[in-house]
This record gives sequence, C-alpha cells and structure tokens, in this order.
Amino acid sequence: MIYEMNYDSIDLTYPAPEDEPARQNYYIAAARKIVSVRSRQKGRDLTACVKTFGCQMNERDSEKLRGILQEIGFVIIPEEEADLVLYNTCTVRENANLKVYGRLGYLKGLKEKNPDMIIGLCGCMMQEHQVVEKLERSYRFIDLIFGTHNIYKLAELLNTVLANPGRMMVDLKETTDTIVEKLPADRTYFFKSGVNIMYGCNNFCTYCIVPYVRGREISRRPVEIIREIEKLADDGVVEIMLLGQNVNSYGKNLDETITFAQLLREVEKIDGIERIRFMTSHPKDLSDELIEVMSTSKKICPHMHLPLQSGSTSLLNKMNRHYTKDRYLTLVEKLRAAVPDISITTDIIVGFPGETEEDFQETLDVVRRTQFDSAFTFIYSRRTGTPAASMPDQIREDVIKDRFDRLLELVQKTGSKRSARFEGRVMPVLVEHKNEQEKHLVTGRIPQNLVVHFPGDESLIGKIVKVKLKECKGFYYLGERV
Ligand code: SAH
Ligand code: SF4
Ligand code: F3S
Repeated sequence: MIYEMNYDSIDLTYPAPEDEPARQNYYIAAARKIVSVRSRQKGRDLTACVKTFGCQMNERDSEKLRGILQEIGFVIIPEEEADLVLYNTCTVRENANLKVYGRLGYLKGLKEKNPDMIIGLCGCMMQEHQVVEKLERSYRFIDLIFGTHNIYKLAELLNTVLANPGRMMVDLKETTDTIVEKLPADRTYFFKSGVNIMYGCNNFCTYCIVPYVRGREISRRPVEIIREIEKLADDGVVEIMLLGQNVNSYGKNLDETITFAQLLREVEKIDGIERIRFMTSHPKDLSDELIEVMSTSKKICPHMHLPLQSGSTSLLNKMNRHYTKDRYLTLVEKLRAAVPDISITTDIIVGFPGETEEDFQETLDVVRRTQFDSAFTFIYSRRTGTPAASMPDQIREDVIKDRFDRLLELVQKTGSKRSARFEGRVMPVLVEHKNEQEKHLVTGRIPQNLVVHFPGDESLIGKIVKVKLKECKGFYYLGERV
C-alpha cells in the first residue's frame, strides 16, 4: 500500500524536517535524485533485493523496507544479484544466525564482481552487540547495519551510505517508544496482508531473545489499525493477519481501554475483509471474551496457534510461561466447545535446561490429548543473555535428539490423522498461487489454514471458491472445485 506522495514537490534546499514521517519523505526525495542519476549513468534501472530470515513480523517489516526502496526508485527483484541487497535477519535460534553468516560469503563474492553494490543487514540479529562487533571486525564489505527500532529510517540511512561509499554505516537504537505511521509498504500478495497491531514483547520467557531484540511491548492505536485495514480492503485485500508476539495482551499500554477481543469486533465491521487471522496467542492471556468473539464471528478463521512450549508444569514455570499443563488443556477444551471445527496448532521446545524424561512425557501426553492439527517442534537453542542460557543441567545433544525424534513422530501421526477430518467436505478456499510442481493446479487455504491443491488457473488467485476436499495427503488436501 502506497500513501500517495509527490516527492518532486519537496524542496531539498531546506534542511530535513524533524517530524516523522515528513523527515523520511524528505530523505526519500533526496535518495530518488541520486538513484535516478545513477540509473541514467548505467542506462538501466537500479535493482534491490530484500531477503527475510525471520517470522511474519520480520516479513511485514521487509514489505515496509521494499516499499521505501521502491519509492526511492529501485526495482525490487527476488535475486541477490541486485544493486542493493538487504538481509532482514532473525536470531530466535542459533540456526537463524548461521544461515546469515553462510550467505554473507556469497554476497562478498557478488560484490567483488559489482563494486558499486550496496549490502545492508537489519533486523533482530543486529540488536545483539556481539554480532555487530563481529561484523565490524570481519565483514568490512557490509555498507549498512541497522536494527529493529529504526527500519522506518531506511531512506535517511541510505542517503548517508550513498554519500560515503566504502564506509560501514551502523545505526542502532536500544528501544523505541514511538511508532512511525503512514510510510510506504510493498505488499507481497494483493489479496492478503499482515497488519502489525503491536510491537515488542514484555513476557521474558526465559529461553527467548525476542524481548531483548524487539524491545518493550507497544500497541498501535486502534484508529491507526482500523484505518490501515480499511485502506487494505479498498485495495482488494480480503484476508488480514493481525500480528504481535502476544496479541492477547493487546491494548495494555494504551491510554484508551481496549482489549484484543474488542479490537477484533471493530475489524469484523470492515467491509471487504472476509477472513481475519491473528498470531501469536499466549495461553496466559487467552480470555473467555476472545473465545466468545471467535465463536460468534463470521470472519475470524477457526484457527488458533497456541504455543505450548512444554507440557510439564514445572518446566513451564522455569520457562516463565505463567500457565500450567491443566490450564492449557482447559483452554483447548473451551476453544473446541465454542468454535466447532477449530484447528489448533502449536510450538514445542525440546531440551530446555533441566528437562527430565518425566517432563518430556508430560509434553507427549498433551500432544496425545490435544491432537494438534500441526506443531512446530524446536530443539532448544541457547541464546546469549537469556536467563535459561546460564541455567544448570543443559541437556546433552544425543538425549535431545532422541526426544525430538519421538516427539516429531507423534506430532506427525496425530496431526495427519486430525487433518484428514474434512475429507469429503466442501470448504471455501482462498486461492494463493499457482502450484509450482503441477502447472494445472492452484494452491489455497481453507479457514482452518490447511492447504488444498486443485485444478484451476491463475485467474482464481485472490478469490475464495468452493472446493470439495477429496483426499487428504497428510498435511494437505487434493480437491476439486464445485
Ligand atoms: N511470541 C510467540 C513466539 C515467538 S518465537 C509466543 O510466545 O508464542 C516462535 C517460537 O520459537 C516460540 O514459540 C518457541 O517455540 C521458539 N523459540 C523461541 N526461543 C527459542 C529458543 N531459544 N530455542 C528454541 N526455540 C525457541
Ligand atoms: Fe518470546 Fe515468550 Fe515473548 Fe513469545 S511471549 S516472543 S516466546 S518472550
Ligand atoms: Fe526472529 Fe525477530 Fe521474529 S528474532 S522470530 S525475526 S521477532
């Protein structure tokens, strides 16, 4: 979504204004001039690639970064052979960091062939001091480093980079207390979009680095959220995903009194929006009011992603999760009673410090009893600076691996059985894209978030159509339009 701006009307002979977003619009106008000159010199458009390594929130940030780059005059391409490459990084687990370091070697090679290339790194990993020190020491070919609190400043930072070739520009902020609204964003899909309702996290689960790299929880004002969704609906968006690390605590730091459930009621009223999803729900804050709103809504999808992390109450305590095994099971029961056909998915961590075989058996017990539609299973990753990193009894790798394999087997067995429950039914499917392997098929999702492939062509993309789910193939369906 682009907020229409006439950049040519901005007088660059004056200094940049202090207020946002006027300041960034000024810098977009300034960068546009430089990019336009370079593009004329090269006789072609300048290209940019923004690659996301993290979660939906990072993906949404990437759309904003692409929006700014597009306004500056870059043509966005998926390949890393671009004039500007920006990695939007994640650090939730060690693997995410390793992936970035792995790709940097490749980027270095590309820059040797194209010395004008600009390489930027941003996102969660950049909020860690030791990472930035390592990059400053050993990865001097990087031009720009910024974090999670200043993505809105990309145009301003880029002006500095363009004026100082060969220098590494680092701009990091520890926290934010302001939200800059009304900047451009380039949506990946024309028919669905993520919408941030809050930033940061206050929960400090003891294994998790997110509160340190994303800062304190701040909710966006409801009027800004509603205005954004109305604009999206005008642009043809039919499905929105409300995003936050813990959407159930939405509104807690706002002056006006509003709960997440009340926000959902407001979003429901917006014409044109057909499907409302949200992510992520923390079990500790899941209210009866939310369950009630879900049970009466025509637009909220019957899908709840409810991270369990562990089935052991004592481990949940050590994780600082603020719920028990029983409370989790009760929530699942309530959800299933109030919202028929709801699908429940989860995240589980294996090998948290001190996890005994008994603790692990409790997790297996919750999986058996809940019968999740699907579960993301993670091996515990020690994150520097988190309380769990210095807890005693870190679990041996071979023990973790054995538990992980047993959990995965159970999750796959129960998940595929449960996913098959819609076989034979006709369901509304929002078509998302053409099938990559089988050209005569398109791929979409039912409200419960399960994937369906069925014969169809590109003209169906973005439409909700009725499909008979003929055969369940584990975690997806083959279907036919009716
Ligand atoms: N805010 C969300 C989760 C965000 S991170 C919530 O609270 O549910 C996504 C998932 O990554 C978490 O649910 C957790 O299962 C996993 N995760 C987070 N930190 C981890 C770590 N140090 N090691 C392994 N998995 C982790
Ligand atoms: Fe991490 Fe817990 Fe916050 Fe989720 S709620 S982001 S797991 S600290
Ligand atoms: Fe990763 Fe940051 Fe999301 S650490 S999971 S990209 S909030």
